[in-house]
Amino acid sequence: MDNSPLRVLTVPTSPYSDQKPGSNGLRRKVHVFQSRKNYLHNFIQSIFSSIDLRDRQGSALVVGGDGRFFNQTAIEVIVQMAAANGVGRLIVGHHGLMSTPACSCVIRKFKAIGGIILTASHNPAGPDGDFGIKFNTANGGPANDGITNKIFQLSRTIEEFAICPGLRLDLTTLGKQTFDLENKFKPFIVEIVDAVESYANLMRNIFDFATLKELLSGENHIKIRLDAMHGVVGPYVKRILCDELGCPDNCAVNCVPMEDFGGHRPDPNLIYAADLIDIMRDGAYDFGAAFDSDGDRNMILGKHGLFVTPSDSLAVIADNIFCIPYFQHSGVRGLARSMPTSAALDRVAKATKIELYETPTGWKFFGNLMDAGLLSLCGEESFGTSGDHIREKDGLWAVLAWLTIMASRRQSVEEILQYHWLKYGRNYFTRYDYENIDIDAACEMMEDVELMIADKNFVRQRFAVEDKIYQVEKADNFEYTDPVDSSITRNQGLRIIFSDGSRIIYRLGGTSSDGATVRIYLETYDKEAIFQETQVVLAPLATIALKISQLHHRTGRTGPSVIT
Ligand code: G1P
Ligand code: ZN
Repeated sequence: MDNSPLRVLTVPTSPYSDQKPGSNGLRRKVHVFQSRKNYLHNFIQSIFSSIDLRDRQGSALVVGGDGRFFNQTAIEVIVQMAAANGVGRLIVGHHGLMSTPACSCVIRKFKAIGGIILTASHNPAGPDGDFGIKFNTANGGPANDGITNKIFQLSRTIEEFAICPGLRLDLTTLGKQTFDLENKFKPFIVEIVDAVESYANLMRNIFDFATLKELLSGENHIKIRLDAMHGVVGPYVKRILCDELGCPDNCAVNCVPMEDFGGHRPDPNLIYAADLIDIMRDGAYDFGAAFDSDGDRNMILGKHGLFVTPSDSLAVIADNIFCIPYFQHSGVRGLARSMPTSAALDRVAKATKIELYETPTGWKFFGNLMDAGLLSLCGEESFGTSGDHIREKDGLWAVLAWLTIMASRRQSVEEILQYHWLKYGRNYFTRYDYENIDIDAACEMMEDVELMIADKNFVRQRFAVEDKIYQVEKADNFEYTDPVDSSITRNQGLRIIFSDGSRIIYRLGGTSSDGATVRIYLETYDKEAIFQETQVVLAPLATIALKISQLHHRTGRTGPSVIT
């Protein structure tokens, strides 16, 4: 074996102008990373260059991904570049895998300076699918705009990158591997860790596993079905739910991570997780859940596939928060939701006199509040829920939270949800996604709607659909001033709020890699009529939303790609 120090090369490169991270990292088609010379190298070098050399040398950096196609190739390059860029120590997930919540957990546990997470989340994978790179900071959460802008600026002027091409890492063996390099930053240490165990340990300290074990495998146990959709969360589900909490093996399906997620879109919603809903329809299972590829999203289902909207799920967890041992000890400092998420949470906050924050879409805004000790529980309508145990949304945590509430209340999902609506009334909510829209058409529509709602006569304007009349009370382009650092984030969605509290919101998604995604969020509240069909209740608002935006006319579409 050759024990001579590994060579460190400086390789000239040319910049790209489009490496601006979106809502959640840089997402591009796999072929972009494969065919554009040094596309990956440039972005990774820009991440390293954004960290002060002294900070790099003295600290650890975490690396892991959701296992999608190109994950292994990217990890190999990242390790070689980390060594050449003087990173002191790398902490890498076993086989290069790590769920997003586990990555946040590991960053915090090892007091790392940050982490690189390889995922395009719920976007499809495979050679024709998407790949993504996310940079998280020392708090375990997504980097804020200041940092992502710095990375973007560096990527626009990059001239060279450093790499150690001879470095070969064994991702299959847990433990430390040390490499000698022919530069001053030696030795370079890589530690392959069992992120599943680190994460399981965190969950053991948040929930009462004895109670959960009784619920899931005791004498009168309930039957559950969890669908990992071939994403990275499968091994976490198996270890925690099956090995530890005693669920039978067949309660957890699609738990082997696959490079193309079995050809499916790893997106836990009514369309892409329809299999799970179908299987649950006949009533064989009391509880169901699905996760996305990197394990940060969750969809909660009750018996017969009863769908709990993420906005309701968040409100229910908030209302029952003291069933969870972690919050009994830590107390609850604040609640938060992203702006488009329904106001069901607001009612709980008001009743419990807990502070409520309304943030722009994306998890990074919650992290700031949590770091300042202002926030304990938060969520988004896009199937994200979490507490302040980490700085990412956490799909499995949400499942354990629901199971804890079921155990504590001795009620079914349906009973819990109905009790909630009876107590607070119901916020009916739906989201229409129009995917793959021509970018110019989408931007033009947003500009026109913004102009229209900015007109001083727009407020008080009435819209009638059949016997329903809605009067505009307020309309704006949502902007957020961070209560911690006073930073202002503008252009976060066009809101039309009616006098009865109903809302129409238009936003352009920031996570698609193909064209634009137009999202329309619709919400209305009813104190008494809590058992209506969501789509029926919201149909008049949908008609108004389409009339105002002329979306179908502008795009030639006849309906949304996905309705949630
Ligand atoms: C979408 C969701 C948003 C979520 C993000 C990352 O972003 O809408 O709530 O934080 O994915 O999972 P968007 O494409 O809407 O910008
Ligand atoms: Zn995700």
